[in-house]
Amino acid sequence: MKVIFDTDPGIDDAMALLYLSKLPEIDLLGITTVVGNADLATTTRNALFLKERFGLSAPVVQGAGKTLDGVEKAEPVIVHGVNGLGEIEIPPVDENGLASGEASQFIIDMLKAHPGEISIIAVGRMTNLALALRAEPEVAKLAKQVVIMGGAFGYQGRSGNITPAAEANIHGDPVAADEIFAADWPVVVVGLDVTHDIILDTAYLESLSREVGENGTLLAQMCEHYARFYKEMMGLSGVVGHDLLAVTYALHPEWFETRRGPVLVVREGVAVGQTIQMPESRKGGHPDWANRPVQTVCTGVDAGKVLRHYRETV
Ligand code: BDR
Ligand code: CA
Repeated sequence: MKVIFDTDPGIDDAMALLYLSKLPEIDLLGITTVVGNADLATTTRNALFLKERFGLSAPVVQGAGKTLDGVEKAEPVIVHGVNGLGEIEIPPVDENGLASGEASQFIIDMLKAHPGEISIIAVGRMTNLALALRAEPEVAKLAKQVVIMGGAFGYQGRSGNITPAAEANIHGDPVAADEIFAADWPVVVVGLDVTHDIILDTAYLESLSREVGENGTLLAQMCEHYARFYKEMMGLSGVVGHDLLAVTYALHPEWFETRRGPVLVVREGVAVGQTIQMPESRKGGHPDWANRPVQTVCTGVDAGKVLRHYRETV
């Protein structure tokens, strides 16, 4: 499976990248970066560090440092730390590892080079994808699928994490996300409705440290910071594996329950970043959704299978 991984590393982004690096069926064409869990220079540096550390050959291509509307703001450092990776020690990276060019153009070029073959797995803000669509809207038809980690639809009673209405990746650039849902490519949404079923608790993190070698230890160290955040904010004992679940979907969609229907994003106001899906059967009667393509939103997942598969793979 050919994959472009669009990311803002990020602790759970690092978990997802380690997963991708260990899956023989994945042909990772590129790692594109975006502002989000930290500013763009930091997320790009982190992508270069993780590429080296995980022995990946895919190019790292830098993308958007601002939203489509020109806002330059990262998420609060309380979540992923000032360095974006839970304040672990990061050695100097080889800047030559950074590919020339820019992420949205890279995405366009790859889609044209491999029509119908690429799964884009996007686990940060959707700005790079939206810039690609704005530049060449017809490339949407060339993607096999776009699997995004983002959104909170109220399925399983789950609300947002940045605000009660909105999840961080969507809230960070709501216009970009709305354009992604409106485009004519198959989007699959792995949102908080399912990612909050994937809790890596203390025992699980210890087992990664014990059984997965140096990289397991690295993840467990990053997660010490992440776990403090989840403890303080939600009283959880462990961390949520948001981004790794988007990778799981690309491999094992049969482990998920889904609902079909067009999706829109609230673009402004107090509920900015809220994601709302209209059931496919009712879309005709509602002008805001009527002309949008039907997309897929995950509403349930077999968490036991996911956690076992992750540990066995990494
Ligand atoms: C998403 O926001 C980021 O903090 C995480 O990396 C994940 O992609 C969860 O809301
Ligand atoms: Ca992320």
